[in-house]
Amino acid sequence: MRPKILVTREVFDETLEYLREHCDVDANQEDMALAPDALMKRLADKEGVICSLTDRIDAALLERCPKLKVVANIAVGYNNIDVPACSARGIMATNTPGVLDDSTADLAWTLMLGAARRITEVERYVRNGEWKGWRLKQWLGIDVHHATLGIIGMGRIGQAIARRAAGFDMRVLYHNRKRVDEEIERKLNTRWVSLDELLGKSDFVVLQVPYSPETHHLIGAAQLSKMKRNAILINSTRGGVVDDQALISALRNGTIRAAGLDVFENEPKLNPAFLDLDNVVLAPHIGSSTEATRCAMAMTAAKNAVAVLIGSTPPNLINAEAIRS
Ligand code: DGY
Repeated sequence: MRPKILVTREVFDETLEYLREHCDVDANQEDMALAPDALMKRLADKEGVICSLTDRIDAALLERCPKLKVVANIAVGYNNIDVPACSARGIMATNTPGVLDDSTADLAWTLMLGAARRITEVERYVRNGEWKGWRLKQWLGIDVHHATLGIIGMGRIGQAIARRAAGFDMRVLYHNRKRVDEEIERKLNTRWVSLDELLGKSDFVVLQVPYSPETHHLIGAAQLSKMKRNAILINSTRGGVVDDQALISALRNGTIRAAGLDVFENEPKLNPAFLDLDNVVLAPHIGSSTEATRCAMAMTAAKNAVAVLIGSTPPNLINAEAIRS
């Protein structure tokens, strides 16, 4: 009997073709997130699921899916999955590291450059027909080149962001729970500093830590008040790492200069106060969203799932303890 797998959201045709070579596929190609009840019903008889960060895979759901062997997330972050609950049931959970590092780093840079040069403000100005001519002091931004970049979270994506800084002659500081290898520090021309030192010295602060109870509101009012008044904050990792209400106040009061945000608390219902602020560049969680990268992410998830369903260990297993339990 071929294993049954559910694909919760629209994926690429080639992903489905690959899955169909190995499994009976139930695909939600309408691309509407399944409501919890519908997800439960469709997953009840499945051995595998390809899901995304909009699907909550929690203990209550897993309880109703006795055949489930693999939860393959199409994302590198997996805060939508209750991993301990998977492990306790011997269900392998996987993610998609590696394939999205460069695209996500590019987006962080897009936000940095966009916020520094006020690109969304000037775009609105031009489109509204308000541009009447050149002026010396028109739409002054700040320089990215030769500025200090502070990266919080020096994993693969943080490192990809740091690599790009060399082209802008930036000084790069980083903060991470653990220092990275000296060889990497040397190659990236970066040094570890405390969080407070990073906040106090950086012109651009980029967040690249995964979301977890430990990183919840890592940046709140106290941290924002330690940043330079001319600094720009970039969050392209996960909503919840920043206290959005505190950030809104800081942007309103001029505690910091500007922000570039791809992720929000409670997205997509972001705090409407952001919409009234000119000094924030807003994007709808598109960090990894290029054709090639999203396709690679979906295929990686499919390969992880199929590996489990044919009895091997998936390349991107998050919970090795699932095998032992
Ligand atoms: C990830 O991979 O965690 C991204 O946020 C999904 O786009």
